[in-house]
Amino acid sequence: MDIFKDRIFAGKTVFVAGGSSGINLGIAQRFAEFGARVGLISRTQDRVAAAARTIADAGGEAMGMAADVRDYDAVAAAFAAVKDSYGDIDIVISGAAGNFLAPVVGMSSNAFKTVIDIDLLGTFNVLRASYDFIRKPGASIISITAGQAVRPVMFQAHAGAAKAGINNLTQCLAMEWGPAGIRVNAISPGPIGHTEGMARLAPSEEATRALKSKIPLRDYGTKRDIADLALFLCSDNAKYITGAIIDCDGGSVLGDASADALSVRPRG
Ligand code: NAP
Ligand code: COA
Repeated sequence: MDIFKDRIFAGKTVFVAGGSSGINLGIAQRFAEFGARVGLISRTQDRVAAAARTIADAGGEAMGMAADVRDYDAVAAAFAAVKDSYGDIDIVISGAAGNFLAPVVGMSSNAFKTVIDIDLLGTFNVLRASYDFIRKPGASIISITAGQAVRPVMFQAHAGAAKAGINNLTQCLAMEWGPAGIRVNAISPGPIGHTEGMARLAPSEEATRALKSKIPLRDYGTKRDIADLALFLCSDNAKYITGAIIDCDGGSVLGDASADALSVRPRG
């Protein structure tokens, strides 16, 4: 089967947490293109409703609801509403996140807690609540993590700690839920262009140029790059993959590949 030719997700239901914008909305839109019905949540009713409209306007089927991932009951209610409308949930994408650049001494306890609560507790809430609403066997779950989880980045202690927790949670759940026929994986995007995340982490042209010069593939990725990996991971082509944390990052996580990083110049 060619996952990029057939409408292989027709009749499937996808739930996307943090789906009102950016990478997560890109994933939702791509699943809808391939025939899936999509339920989106984010904190803001207007934003999530507008996101659902972009899918409907393109000929897809989507519903958007306000639910803060820090509020377990709100998340569970959103799952129930999507199941009521679209049936058992086949695919869950957990990608809600908050981030800002700050050194540890520039961060209050509440600042650190806020990012842990949105990213890590929020992912726990989405995954835990999903269990009662997903198809068993057959469901596929993807959390959106980041390279900071395994390669520490200054001014990202909060996000790095939260995403490291998400990696561990992903692998723990792959073990606990594998016997029920549920696959649990994570995607670790590198710098992705035209996103809120990169607007915050590399806010100027100079910072963007400097960052790109360090990436082995020398450019940012696209939302489509991440969405297509999600399609693959949730397709039957990936039916033996669980507990994987897959980088889609142009090699970023490997380290600084800029010419300046070489202290010794090789010949030639
Ligand atoms: P984004 O557009 O800001 O996406 C974040 C989403 O989360 C928004 O839809 C936001 O919607 C929602 N959200 C925030 N707090 C929430 C909460 N408490 N409850 C429910 N929803 C909440 O940013 P993005 O850059 O595309 O990032 C998407 C994901 O990719 C994140 O998990 C991020 O860590 C990851 N990532 C991004 C990059 C990158 O290059 N951008 C790289 C690595 C990893 P509302 O404001 O409407 O709530
Ligand atoms: N530097 C240091 N601390 C910061 C900060 C920054 N740039 N931005 C926020 N904080 C602190 C606040 O001061 C507050 O701490 P305090 O109570 O001790 O003053 C704490 O973080 C919570 O801020 P608040 O604005 O109340 O949180 P929120 O839940 O309304 O919003 C954020 C969450 C802060 C993460 C906000 O940036 C957001 O909504 N982000 C979503 C979009 C996003 O980040 N996208 C990129 C995803 S990778």
